[in-house]
Amino acid sequence: MEAVNIRLQHISKTFIHKVKGEVAAVNDVNLEIKPGELLTLLGPSGCGKTTTLRMVAGFETPDAGRVYIGNEDVTDFMANRRNIGFVFQNYALFPHLSIFENVAYGLKVKEMTKAEIVPTVSDVLKMVGLKGYEHQFPNQLSGGEQQRVALARAIVIKPKVLLFDEPLSNLDAKLRVYTRSEIRRLQKALHITAVYVTHDQEEAMAISDRIVVMNQGRIEQIGAAEELYFAPETEFVAKFIGKINTLPARVNTVENDVMSLNIFDHTYQLQDASAQVHPDTNLNVFVRPEFIKLHQPDQGHFRGVIRERTFLGEKVEYVVDIQGQQINVTSYDPLEHETFALDQGVGIQLDPRNIKILQPGEVEK
Ligand SMILES: Nc1ncnc2c1ncn2[C@@H]1O[C@H](COP(=O)(O)OP(=O)(O)OP(=O)(O)O)[C@@H](O)[C@H]1O
Ligand SMILES: [Mg+2]
Repeated sequence: MEAVNIRLQHISKTFIHKVKGEVAAVNDVNLEIKPGELLTLLGPSGCGKTTTLRMVAGFETPDAGRVYIGNEDVTDFMANRRNIGFVFQNYALFPHLSIFENVAYGLKVKEMTKAEIVPTVSDVLKMVGLKGYEHQFPNQLSGGEQQRVALARAIVIKPKVLLFDEPLSNLDAKLRVYTRSEIRRLQKALHITAVYVTHDQEEAMAISDRIVVMNQGRIEQIGAAEELYFAPETEFVAKFIGKINTLPARVNTVENDVMSLNIFDHTYQLQDASAQVHPDTNLNVFVRPEFIKLHQPDQGHFRGVIRERTFLGEKVEYVVDIQGQQINVTSYDPLEHETFALDQGVGIQLDPRNIKILQPGEVEK
């Protein structure tokens, strides 16, 4: 079966919430998911991830906009006519049915014969690593195994699209890492277009081809993990994907896309700087902790004092006081770990290529 694309065209959904009043849960979302792609919706609680996914599934009807699956407008189709496999956070298995019957359920609905169903279920259970579990019941399985049954139940109907809503949040940390790579492996092997919802940035980075960062019902940015990490377009994305320091700066001049600005006591020249910024203004710039280099106090661009030092094996995390500002610095150089001690003065160096100017925005993590 050919993988299909999914298109969300200007979809919006407003709820009347008992406490919050009118909530624009999804606000004019425009998105194309490529055939065979695993795309993740990532964002803080309440940003509209589940609502978006439910509109793809047909559990929710958009107030405005259209949903296309494989270039067919399915906006007015009932959920059971969309040929979609859905894996939820809470397994949603039938407790009184055996694993075989749980997985076979969707095939019985399609009126397949027992002779067809038995080998199909057996194949799919093998695929998810649960060969021989047919006669067990859900309460005899661990959380991870139950979630694999849920996955088997979703793929057994040979869906055109797979949707996942926080499928790993009930599993412990180790099982989450294992199960997410299993989901990706299966999704790629079966070549089924998938949309995955999580609020965990690491999970999103590990599992996705592309990530959509959502904020208050809108898309902030779409890109591969590397793009979002190294080239965030907004302060919200920079702070949601990884850590970033906010540093005060003063713009001196902007000429031919080169911006001269002062950060603490040092002047930097930034290439390809945005023309929106005016000379003689203050603004915030952003630098990731691993791009700040610590030196002995007589070197670097400006001075600071180490206020916190946390040894974490492959890295050391420092909090450095620079003129009253607390700045996070991460060092991955194991030989440097010995060099900087608590309360020690240090020299600090920034690389102008890693200083970002971003659209402002607030983030709650
Ligand atoms: N059935 C509903 N009735 C009223 N309000 C709703 C309903 N479903 C969602 N909302 C509201 O819409 C907004 C988006 O909710 P949604 O469930 O899509 O968020 P989410 O990104 O999935 O969050 P979480 O990470 O907490 O699951 C929230 O403000 C939520 O309170
Ligand atoms: Mg949700």
